[in-house]
Amino acid sequence: MSEIKAAENKLVERRQRIFSGIQPTGTLTLGNYIGALRNFKILESEYDCLYSIVDLHAITVRQDAAELRKNCLKVMSLYLAVGLDPEKSLIYFQSHVPAHAELGWILDCYTYMGELNRMTQFKDKSAKHADNINAGLFTYPSLMAADILLYQTNLVPIGADQKQHLELARNLAERFNGVYGDTFIVPEGYFPKVGARIMSLKEPTRKMSKSDAPDTYIGILDEPNIIRKKFRSAVTDSDNSVVFDTENKPGIANLMSILSAVTGKSMDQITAEYDGRGYGVFKDAVADAVIAELEPIQARFKEINTDKAYLEEVMTKGAQRAAALASRTMLKVRRKVGLAALKL
Ligand code: AMP
Ligand code: TRP
Repeated sequence: MSEIKAAENKLVERRQRIFSGIQPTGTLTLGNYIGALRNFKILESEYDCLYSIVDLHAITVRQDAAELRKNCLKVMSLYLAVGLDPEKSLIYFQSHVPAHAELGWILDCYTYMGELNRMTQFKDKSAKHADNINAGLFTYPSLMAADILLYQTNLVPIGADQKQHLELARNLAERFNGVYGDTFIVPEGYFPKVGARIMSLKEPTRKMSKSDAPDTYIGILDEPNIIRKKFRSAVTDSDNSVVFDTENKPGIANLMSILSAVTGKSMDQITAEYDGRGYGVFKDAVADAVIAELEPIQARFKEINTDKAYLEEVMTKGAQRAAALASRTMLKVRRKVGLAALKL
């Protein structure tokens, strides 16, 4: 069998691949956990997974250097604290694999201004950081596409807010394949059935975001008494019924989604159990369930985050293995685009 044929067969045999990333900015929230992080662990046993801490994305907004460095290790520790196994999944920093930036640039040259102009995250972030609407913030979705396409990813576990970015990644893969022949796998999104969009506790029509005020979100590392307090002061409504109605009762619907995501109970079960008992009882039940879910993660986090040697070992191995995978795609891309091969 020719070498190429053998390599192709090997590709067919490999398990489906997963890629996802989280930005190391601020404190991760319950939204990040339910929307993404929890699925990372669920998918680990069946897929070939790469989970990155996407630090190059984080600098599209001005960051304090010392804080960013600390946050990178924090997100890595959280990956490990939710139970990801670095022997099974590649856990690494995006900036440690320069191919992300390289493919990001190449894909920039295949992305239209109009496509980037439509991105709602760009619009939101430009409004929030009006004094720093930089080119990186604008082209961020092409870099995200590069993250995904670099590894011939099949499935991308993300929250609903990233759907538009994933769509661009799919379009870029198809566009590139259309010009140069099959080069990239066209990835699919993997969204949680409940909780793909966890909302702010204070304004339940906006998504829960780590860049908003602390009383609007539950931090994965929030102390139990803080979690309880935040749920107690969550905005609801005045009709005192625990019924799932996102349009008319967004606050209660959000709390029901959280409870359902964490316990696996259906909306009907939740209504049967809590309707008519008062919002106080219901809010405390949500708090109890979230605290029970997060406490073991918090305990493991405390141990892992202080073990710098271990974290360094994980990130180094992860980066080396990821770089080797990325270089396969880059060889192909460089050749197809017409960049001269460098033979050392
Ligand atoms: P980010 O914090 O923007 O890097 O997001 C990391 C991951 O968490 C992405 O997959 C997001 O879609 C997901 N995510 C962020 N906020 C939420 C939310 N409020 N609800 C559900 N998923 C979310
Ligand atoms: N843009 C994503 C966010 O803000 C983070 C991210 C960057 C990502 N690259 C990715 C998510 C690749 C999935 C796959 O949430």
